[in-house]
Amino acid sequence: MLNFDFYNPTRILFGKGRIADLAKAVPADARVLVLYGGGSIKANGVFDEVMSGLAGRTVKEFSGIEPNPSYETLMQAVELVRRENLDFLLAVGGGSVIDGTKFVAAAAHFEGDPWEILEKRGRNITQALPFGTVLTLPATGSEMNNGSVVTRKSLQAKIPFSSNLVFPKFSILDPAKTYTLPLRQVGNGVVDAYAHVMEQYLTYPVNSPVQDRFAEGLLLTLIEEGPKVLANPDDYDTRANIMWCATLALNGLIGAGVPQDWATHMVGHELTALYGLDHAQTLAIVLPSMLSVRKEGKRAKLLQYAARVWNLTDGSEDQRIDEAIRKTRDFFEQMGVKTRLTDYKLGTQNIDAILKHLESHRMVTLGEQRDVTLDVSRKVLEMSI
Ligand code: NZQ
Ligand code: ZN
Repeated sequence: MLNFDFYNPTRILFGKGRIADLAKAVPADARVLVLYGGGSIKANGVFDEVMSGLAGRTVKEFSGIEPNPSYETLMQAVELVRRENLDFLLAVGGGSVIDGTKFVAAAAHFEGDPWEILEKRGRNITQALPFGTVLTLPATGSEMNNGSVVTRKSLQAKIPFSSNLVFPKFSILDPAKTYTLPLRQVGNGVVDAYAHVMEQYLTYPVNSPVQDRFAEGLLLTLIEEGPKVLANPDDYDTRANIMWCATLALNGLIGAGVPQDWATHMVGHELTALYGLDHAQTLAIVLPSMLSVRKEGKRAKLLQYAARVWNLTDGSEDQRIDEAIRKTRDFFEQMGVKTRLTDYKLGTQNIDAILKHLESHRMVTLGEQRDVTLDVSRKVLEMSI
């Protein structure tokens, strides 16, 4: 029986040229901090459009938020917000810039050591600065959700937090701003969105046909549109379809009231924290083995996935499941994201360190049934070599 509380206050402004809407979306008297990454927005004109949209307001900038944003860098932005008495944040970039901005929003007036926000996974956030986003990389869904992941470099710890106080007020999604993405990031984005759907869909049946069909629709769309964007990077409609898919994959809708897994993401975070792999690379490595190792617990949904997403209806149950997992892996490879630890020069020698980090972050009973122990994670990693 479905039973849930679905809350999402983020307004989406979607389409070509929508950055100009900043003029209306940001309060006229706001003292704004624009946060961005390593400079892609300066090279592709997004920065200039943002600045003209904000004309007339007090605007400061903070650049240098790195992929997998670090606590160390973000605390500098917190200092700037406090020093300049800024009261509105605007994230311009991909998931890292948006996640980083969520942390800055919560930390700016946090009483106590902001690291506690991560230690308590966001449960102790009582207020946050308002912020909007201009998304330049479809992948994480951060533009329409209340989650964020921050890395403390000194501890090699990558920690998620969430709070309803860090939903963006609005997000501007202009698909034409994604033309300049390197193909590696395009592939990463499709794989990340795909994995988000799988974490919420591929668990066990709870008679939730609406969520199931939404999830399958997103997977089928990603399978159709992903290769098209690699073949025709300048096609607006394909870019738009991918962008909207990635947002819907993690805005809470398909996950409302259904069991959720997230074990692949938690193991993946350790791979990024320890070895610097891109977020989506870690998912491409872990997800296929995670499904194989947990075949029994996920059997009913794996068969549904095989039939409805990959059209696999012949052969034994095990054959259909194995083939669906193989096709999933092939799709990630087709998107240019390698799926084996050895592709990234990692292997057996790294597994103990990964498990040790999982243990120290209390990631010892993961998954929708809390049955992904360290032993299960070890099997998954061994199968991922
Ligand atoms: O820094 P700049 O110069 O902007 O370059 C970025 C960066 O190097 C570049 N880029 C972005 N838009 C571009 C562009 N280059 C050219 N043209 C454009 N239009 O892309 C690079 C990667 O950016 P990043 O933001 O790191 O990628 P992504 O959006 O994949 O975000 C990854 C982060 O999000 C977290 C991940 O863990 C990771 O830290 N996640 C956040 C989630 C959430 N908040 O809900 C869920 C996800 O599972 C994920 O964990
Ligand atoms: Zn992800």
